Amino acid sequence: MTATMHAVRAHERGGPERFAYESAPRPEPAPGEALVAVCAASITAGELDWDATWTDRLDGTGHDRTPTVPSHEVSGIVAALGSGVTDLAVGEEVYGLIPLTHDGAAAEYVTVPADMLAAKPECLDHDSAAAVPLAALTVWQALVDHAALRPGQHVLVHGGAGGVGTFAVQIAAALGARVTATASARDGEFVTGLGAQQVIDYHNERFEDLVHDADVVLDLVGGETLDRSWASVRRGGIVISVVQRPDPEKAAAHGARGVFFTVRPDRPGLLAIEELIDTGRLRPVVDRVVPFTETRAAYEALVTEHPRGKVVLHVDHGGAGEAGEPG
Ligand SMILES: NC(=O)c1ccc[n+]([C@@H]2O[C@H](COP(=O)([O-])OP(=O)(O)OC[C@H]3O[C@@H](n4cnc5c(N)ncnc54)[C@H](OP(=O)(O)O)[C@@H]3O)[C@@H](O)[C@H]2O)c1
Repeated sequence: MTATMHAVRAHERGGPERFAYESAPRPEPAPGEALVAVCAASITAGELDWDATWTDRLDGTGHDRTPTVPSHEVSGIVAALGSGVTDLAVGEEVYGLIPLTHDGAAAEYVTVPADMLAAKPECLDHDSAAAVPLAALTVWQALVDHAALRPGQHVLVHGGAGGVGTFAVQIAAALGARVTATASARDGEFVTGLGAQQVIDYHNERFEDLVHDADVVLDLVGGETLDRSWASVRRGGIVISVVQRPDPEKAAAHGARGVFFTVRPDRPGLLAIEELIDTGRLRPVVDRVVPFTETRAAYEALVTEHPRGKVVLHVDHGGAGEAGEPG
């Protein structure tokens, strides 16, 4: 008989209204994979608009893989190992980014390629650890892999109070950069506390009037914010957007580079991030922790409630209520 678990799944592409909390087959680890008993998972704004959430390719040209489980950041305990996995043990506490084209972690169990998991940072509980992988790896890959950021450089972060932005400000500062961030006025002090030297109220000030020498612009907003960013980057600098592809003609006209990328699972990156966390230079900002039975409301809150930092789903095994309740 197939083992089952509780999971939040969407049977058709759409928004949070598609989610159902239901009984689903418990996955089996394939060779090279670990089965993780999920303790906590975390969610990201815009995730349900990504093609990878619904198909088996990042660019959306692959096969529909509904029903899909959302939420690709996990912290949990290794419950079983597929063949060939020698560097993890059953019972180990791990965290990581699940490939965006696989089922996510809004479930009691998830399978993850073992080499994409790392030991959970010792100083964090599972709820806090789940807030780290996607957002922190996005920032690490932007600032280290794409921008090759050096100490003393100036980084402009758009959206410094959000899920990714709270990591961007802290990681840029930890790498020795001077950090300017845009945010709502109510978040000014909060973002300064994360390490920004200047916070620009994006509702009332135009960042391009105030910043002209950024070595790196990290755009977490897109649209006209991305478009206006060329005026803030120095010649030879880089504008990195994780929301949309920067216009190559505008990049060339400003003598700067424009980069878009999608975050990828990355154990060495996780280990570097873990070092920042365990040495007290980085702390995940968790706006709220909600039971994973309330996944639908959690995604809705991302749009309506302006969370500071990340929203985390707590996965309670066995105590999660009856399948069939709203997800
Ligand atoms: N490509 C990738 O691999 C990748 C990876 C991770 C995330 N992302 C994308 O990155 C984006 C940010 O994700 P997130 O989780 O950080 O979202 P989030 O938690 O919703 O944060 C967004 C932040 O941006 C602020 N903001 C909104 N409009 C702004 C503007 N015009 N100027 C400056 N700040 C503005 C918001 O402030 P207020 O609430 O005060 O308005 C909020 O603090 C999403 O689109 C997500 O899909 C992409």
